[in-house]
Amino acid sequence: VDKSSSRLTIAIQKSGRLSKESIGLLQACGFKFSLHEARLLAHSSNQPVDLLRVRDDDIPGLIMDGVVDLGLVGENVLEEARLERVATNLPSEFERLRALDFGQCRLSIAVPKEDDYNGIADLNSKRIATTYPYLLQSYLQRQGVKASNAVLTGSVEVAPRAGLADAVCDLVSTGATLEANGLVEKDIIFRSQAQLIQRPEPLSAVKQAIVDQLLPRIDGVQMARE
Ligand code: PRP
Ligand code: ZN
Ligand code: MG
Repeated sequence: VDKSSSRLTIAIQKSGRLSKESIGLLQACGFKFSLHEARLLAHSSNQPVDLLRVRDDDIPGLIMDGVVDLGLVGENVLEEARLERVATNLPSEFERLRALDFGQCRLSIAVPKEDDYNGIADLNSKRIATTYPYLLQSYLQRQGVKASNAVLTGSVEVAPRAGLADAVCDLVSTGATLEANGLVEKDIIFRSQAQLIQRPEPLSAVKQAIVDQLLPRIDGVQMARE
């Protein structure tokens, strides 16, 4: 990414729960893109805008390090990355431009359905599998519960059956994944939806003008589908 470029770079998730709606929102705002499956970068044909398609987990860091200008990312991924960066003394600043009307999900504690569970205190000195160790530990700390992590970047839902953990802390949207794995949702620890964020350093005048044009269009698109 050429930082001196006058083209605005927007990072979106390449494949996953936010991808289709992220591209759909930008297209509804009038940006034309021709997307080639294999390409990381897609140029808009009618605006000085480039799309960078990456793993969602990479988006907060790209924004906080000022590598890209804008990002569309889930609040869950954003807050986890922010907590991790604060803990490890990396830049963690960003501007929040808009909460978006898609990507709704929640981060929840779930336990095997045959387990007797009377509340979060039951997890004291237990092990919890999660992809979100910082969000989980900050919740446990507020509840005064001490439990350890089993950090997995995927397949969290199989951890209890595999004997790796007593419970999970994972994203839930329809609940189908928990259900299919014999788990029951118990405590919601974080609610999430997609967010539009910007890097902390001010944008060049050219880029700022594009953002000033984009934001009212996003508001219009979201208002129309309310
Ligand atoms: C999350 C989560 C579950 C699933 C839950 O994964 O880890 O696997 O979604 O959704 P459901 O309640 O509708 O079944 P995600 O799709 O974000 O992908 P990942 O696990 O690869 O990060
Ligand atoms: Zn991810
Ligand atoms: Mg999953």
